[in-house]
Amino acid sequence: MNTQADTTSTGKVAFRMEGRIAVLEIDNPPVNAGSHAVREGLVAGIEKATEAGAEGAILLGAGRSFIAGSDLREFNKALAWPELPDVIKVIEAAPFPVVAALHGVALGGGLELALGCDYRVAAPGTMVGLPEVSLGMIPGAGGTQRLPRLIGRSKAMDLICRAARIPAREALPLGLVDALSEGDLLEDARAFLAAEPRPKRLSRDMTPPEESDEALEAAAVSALKRGKGRPNVVEAIRLVRASVEDAGAVLLDERETFQQLRRSPEAHALRALFFAERRAGSVAGVDPKTARAVKRVGVIGGGTMGQGIARAFLAAGLPVVLMERDAAALERALAALRASFEAQVAKGRLGADAAQARSAALGGTVEAGALAGCDLVIEAVFEEMEVKKDVLARLEAVLPPDAIIATNTSYLDIDEMAAGLDHPERVLGLHFFSPADIMPLLEVVRARKTAPEVLASGLKLARKLGKQPVVARVAEGFIGNRIYAAYRRRAELLVLDGAAPEQVDAAVTGFGFAMGPFAVADMSGLDIAWAMRKRQAATRDAKARYVTIPDRLCEAGRLGRKTGVGWYDHESGKAQPDPAVAAVIAEEREKAGVTPRDFSAEEIQHQLMAAIVNEAALLLEEGVAERASDVDVALANGYGFPRWRGGPLHWAAQREPDALQADLDALARAVGHGHRAGPVARVLGELETGNEG
Ligand code: NAI
Repeated sequence: MNTQADTTSTGKVAFRMEGRIAVLEIDNPPVNAGSHAVREGLVAGIEKATEAGAEGAILLGAGRSFIAGSDLREFNKALAWPELPDVIKVIEAAPFPVVAALHGVALGGGLELALGCDYRVAAPGTMVGLPEVSLGMIPGAGGTQRLPRLIGRSKAMDLICRAARIPAREALPLGLVDALSEGDLLEDARAFLAAEPRPKRLSRDMTPPEESDEALEAAAVSALKRGKGRPNVVEAIRLVRASVEDAGAVLLDERETFQQLRRSPEAHALRALFFAERRAGSVAGVDPKTARAVKRVGVIGGGTMGQGIARAFLAAGLPVVLMERDAAALERALAALRASFEAQVAKGRLGADAAQARSAALGGTVEAGALAGCDLVIEAVFEEMEVKKDVLARLEAVLPPDAIIATNTSYLDIDEMAAGLDHPERVLGLHFFSPADIMPLLEVVRARKTAPEVLASGLKLARKLGKQPVVARVAEGFIGNRIYAAYRRRAELLVLDGAAPEQVDAAVTGFGFAMGPFAVADMSGLDIAWAMRKRQAATRDAKARYVTIPDRLCEAGRLGRKTGVGWYDHESGKAQPDPAVAAVIAEEREKAGVTPRDFSAEEIQHQLMAAIVNEAALLLEEGVAERASDVDVALANGYGFPRWRGGPLHWAAQREPDALQADLDALARAVGHGHRAGPVARVLGELETGNEG
């Protein structure tokens, strides 16, 4: 090939002529984020190509990807010229066709740039998508206009409002991509340009493919529902609908809408959470490169959690050996797992081949010896110290010394659990949430003796499973359950002091949580917490306020959904407030000498948030969590905290300090004797806003 000597770099974009074709190679490691320097480089590159009399240009990403998305760190400030729409205008105005050559990922602004080119050639596995909606925004550089013009309005609405990512091989039949490249991407892009005359072809000038009004209406309804009716989703739908109109005007409208949304508190919160999630898996002094390879895992205990954990590993392509107490229990667990794969196939969520592969990768045993070939074994047996210690000792006898031993314990002391072992440094907690194959959060618990490379291995494994890791130290309830306990306690005190359970739940869902605390209690069963309260009864501080209502409900056999009644009556299939519960509450208030008073929804919300924030401050002070933003990550990924509020600490940091302090004071009065006030102001001061990357 005749590569000319004119190879110059313009900032983050390397420019060279290969014959009559200009090649612009974007090089902004690690993920080729579309930053200001990249945009400048692209404009300069197209200008150079024009001066050089190029007959075509190819945009290409160096390294792993085309462009993983726009650099979110710029989104809190005014954007400087050239903004992405300016770059696309320059590309559209170029006197030659421009081909985007895609590999790795082309997301957000990266895909919008590609849509602004005349043609797109992609490696088949390239993931493309417009995820802006998940960040509280909309595509703001023509995505809502150019995508529907290429693939149709319904399909575009669906992809944009789901923040979906699809591989290029699926994007090809939709018309989003023009050709796949199975070999050398640059060569194939050149060949694409050379194969036939490639005139300029601006997607902004196209008309979306015809479709019926009914199809469009149905797509809008389902997109709105999926997007939970958030304001940015409403805007995205409106703009995609308008993609049959004059592109010039709608593109300006889109940009204006994007600019407003990117500065909204919601987008700010979601960006903070995005950065918090990225940070959460890193720990000072723990080098990710030291992580051990985990290729085969053992799961001990095939109950609710063991099955879910096995499913999570199998879904990530890791073979699993499941161990149970006896042959009958083992057979039950294996049969349940196979049945769950079949059920997923029946629902169309899993291919028959994939289900078959998962069943084939699942083995069972009742002998610890069969786990000898595993790199990591996780126990999910009964929540009893002696049972767990016994299991760990048996494991140590059969595993090589560098195999990792993990426990899924919810509350037990992992230091004590590991104390009797020869190699306690290989033990860590991997605390999954139920259902373990669905819930994104994984608390990776660093016990006192856990070796850094074992922790690194746990963090790497979490990512492999597609989970969001958060690192916790050993402490009762770790991060999430400990905060949840404080929140639930505050909710019960609200009921004792005058609120109805359904009123508390309504305030909580009104705040944006998926469920309120009493609906959650009914779903998971009231008996577990009851058993714990009974264990703690002997050591409880008699002067502390204690809410007896749940004990009365349990004594009456009201254990939640599993008994048909709990805080609510579920007999009709729907949770109904129950007069019998109201009577119990009234009696217990009287016994406690409480004169019930009214609570507004806002007061309920603020009190529950104060309880969460205070407990978070306490556990940060104790070092249970690594950093304040980890608390936000845990609550958003494991407890249904509304993502668009950024997490409880992000939320609290936005409040007026005096109002927040008044809530914390009210919390202290309501909890009364034994209340511990956490260093909330200090913790909020340390909270990184997230937008600094
Ligand atoms: P489960 O009672 O459903 O299952 C425990 C299983 O372990 C049973 O199938 C039992 O036969 C088996 N088992 C007991 N001893 C064994 C032994 N020595 N060897 C092999 N198998 C043995 O309990 P679940 O709910 O699955 O909980 C397991 C662990 O996970 C507990 O430590 C629990 O605290 C923790 N956890 C539970 C969550 C939940 O939502 N259920 C959430 C997160 C953690």
